[in-house]
Amino acid sequence: MITLNIEKTLGFVSKEKVMAYEPVIKAAREALENGTGKGNDFLGWLHLPSSITKEFLTDIKQTAEVLRNNCDYVVVAGIGGSYLGARAVIEALSNSFTWLQENKKNPVIIYAGHNIGEDYLYELTEFLNGKKFGVINISKSGTTTETALAFRLLKKQCEEQRGKELAKKVIVAITDAKKGAARITADQEGYKSYIIPDNVGGRFSVLTPVGLLPIAVAGFDIEQLIAGATDMEKACGVDAPFADNPAAIYAATRNELYKNGKKIEILVNYNPKLHFVSEWWKQLYGESEGKENKGIFPAAVDFSTDLHSMGQWIQEGERTIFETVISVEKTNFNLQVPSDEANLDGLNFLAGKRVDEVNKMAELGTQIAHVDGGVPNIRITIPALNEYSIGELLYFFEIGCGISGYVLGVNPFDQPGVEAYKKNMFALLNKPGYEEESKAIQARL
Ligand code: PA5
Repeated sequence: MITLNIEKTLGFVSKEKVMAYEPVIKAAREALENGTGKGNDFLGWLHLPSSITKEFLTDIKQTAEVLRNNCDYVVVAGIGGSYLGARAVIEALSNSFTWLQENKKNPVIIYAGHNIGEDYLYELTEFLNGKKFGVINISKSGTTTETALAFRLLKKQCEEQRGKELAKKVIVAITDAKKGAARITADQEGYKSYIIPDNVGGRFSVLTPVGLLPIAVAGFDIEQLIAGATDMEKACGVDAPFADNPAAIYAATRNELYKNGKKIEILVNYNPKLHFVSEWWKQLYGESEGKENKGIFPAAVDFSTDLHSMGQWIQEGERTIFETVISVEKTNFNLQVPSDEANLDGLNFLAGKRVDEVNKMAELGTQIAHVDGGVPNIRITIPALNEYSIGELLYFFEIGCGISGYVLGVNPFDQPGVEAYKKNMFALLNKPGYEEESKAIQARL
């Protein structure tokens, strides 16, 4: 089970103050459970893990098999909540280098539709030229420009390269039940499709087909992922005592730190595979809490890499930050530092030690330094990088976010602020229906 340790925040906030959140957190947790809080039409994620059936997972695995059997590469087209969860899990669990090897056991997952980079898309289509590839087109609204644009290119290329009939087999849509262009295309072309439930917002959708299908295609055990999430759902249930509920303590601690001027939370990892877990977390917390002119700013670093870039700022910059460290207890492989007779690099003092022991001492040394430097430190320990632990971690962050948002007093399930850039972009591109906005924005240029 993953564990939470807030001891190293207690020189900055008092334990009594954190524990005094109990009634507020209880009210927030009950509001989630009873659907009485803000954004209560988006609570479908709350009991998602425990309500997923074996049959549903079997269906996902069967679709994954079709893609696995027919494709060397599968492009996941999606942005924000329609992409980050899948990438977070896949990168956390994947061997860092097998995608570079010949004769791969699993199709390589490639991502598109999360930017509008012309060079990126050109290079992607060029790379896919002549390759056996499929596409998972993920968009809840079915109208997101970045994703739709990439899918238009990929659909055409897939049909031309693989023939229309096979393309229908290797293109899968994950979208709304009825509305949006992605739904219309899927129905007309006869693609296999999955529905993103109305009551699950993008950033809370990793445990729906949005995350599950790409993760299964990549060769990972979605049953174990759901098992971990289900156990965490229980641990953070409405009846779990406050002190034993890790998400409740996390929400209380970060809100108390925020109240005491710690406006920025930096998610830290010491394992490069967790980079996209941080990207997923940034979206989850940023989009959920950053509104009404409030909210902790979610940032992330990969240590020890970023100790050589952001380390200076964290140690001595403005004291408005706290760190939440994801610590992985056990590595999946063993590697010892070899002894070297000449010892030219002076590293023989490490000979015989595991590389992870060096990493763990970097972690401990950094924690001590940063706490000494005025940076409170929350620590989340996960036993190992496997499907079960990642499932636990995902749900822990989701429920922690829902509770935290309610404690902050915002609606954690909407994102009105992301529309502003879209409106301007459509106006600038003269999208039909935006004539007035086009005139207005042209006048401002
Ligand atoms: O969390 C969210 O709601 C957003 O990040 C969306 O997932 C993102 O904008 C993509 O939207 P859609 O799935 O409609 O293409």
